[in-house]
Amino acid sequence: MILLKKVADLSRWLEKQRLAGKSIGFVPTMGALHAGHISLIDISKKNAKATICSIFVNPTQFNDPKDFQKYPITIEKDILLLEQAGTDALFLPEEAEIYPEGVKGLEKYDLGRLESLLEGAFRPGHFQGVCQVMRRLLEAVRPDHLFMGQKDYQQCMVIRRLLEIMELPTLLHPCPIVREEDGLAMSSRNMRLSEDQRKKAPAIYQSLLHLKNGWTIEKTVSFLESNGFRVDYVSVADPVTLEPQPAQVRPSIALIAAFIGEIRLIDNMPL
Ligand code: PAJ
Repeated sequence: MILLKKVADLSRWLEKQRLAGKSIGFVPTMGALHAGHISLIDISKKNAKATICSIFVNPTQFNDPKDFQKYPITIEKDILLLEQAGTDALFLPEEAEIYPEGVKGLEKYDLGRLESLLEGAFRPGHFQGVCQVMRRLLEAVRPDHLFMGQKDYQQCMVIRRLLEIMELPTLLHPCPIVREEDGLAMSSRNMRLSEDQRKKAPAIYQSLLHLKNGWTIEKTVSFLESNGFRVDYVSVADPVTLEPQPAQVRPSIALIAAFIGEIRLIDNMPL
């Protein structure tokens, strides 16, 4: 695996791949990699001839500065995992490489309702930050295929919108959620859970199963609260618009965001 830190070096490497007739698959991440991330690498390798991963902890998408400061960094382990998975290149830029003019006064995106629903409402500015970094990464990589996890369901929708705004021909592949044995969706933030919190964390997955089996939103919120969670939202929504809809309507998606201690976890499941 080749390690690239500068956009100029990345461009040269990409040019070589394209000249060799290789399609480019891209997996953007913020590091602290786990099997969920690696599943995206595996899917990319099946769909594209060359796979590039990026690791960049993007400061502009953290609405909570403490969350940014405490975001786990495990770069040596990440490199090992990517090597083992057969990743062709890792783009590992410094902040100045992505934001040469700094992070103040960056451009804004029209994301419509996506910005006032669910994650948009509870994490103001978060999706603007995701778009700001993704625009720069997509401009640098210009991938044929982009692989993103459905764990961040609404983020996939935001990126679909960004690809339209940028008029890029990149094909977005939303990929399945990878879970621990007890159902907890894998997440870099899981590393920060205490032993006790880790034991309680699968209640989110259980809540999604309960919703699938007909529980009301109120009952599900109480279940989470009785397990020690502070709930941001439990929503049953239209999978295309994310607007809330009555529980019995199909197709439908259930989405949950809740804090356990100071760690915020999200998950979702089609009903
Ligand atoms: P990060 O949280 O590191 O996630 C990188 C990618 O891995 C995202 O597409 C995410 O949905 C996917 N992913 C995370 N956990 C997963 C799981 N358990 N199963 C399947 N896929 C999973 O999302 C970001 O980074 C950032 O917002 C980013 C897009 C890189 C922009 O900074």
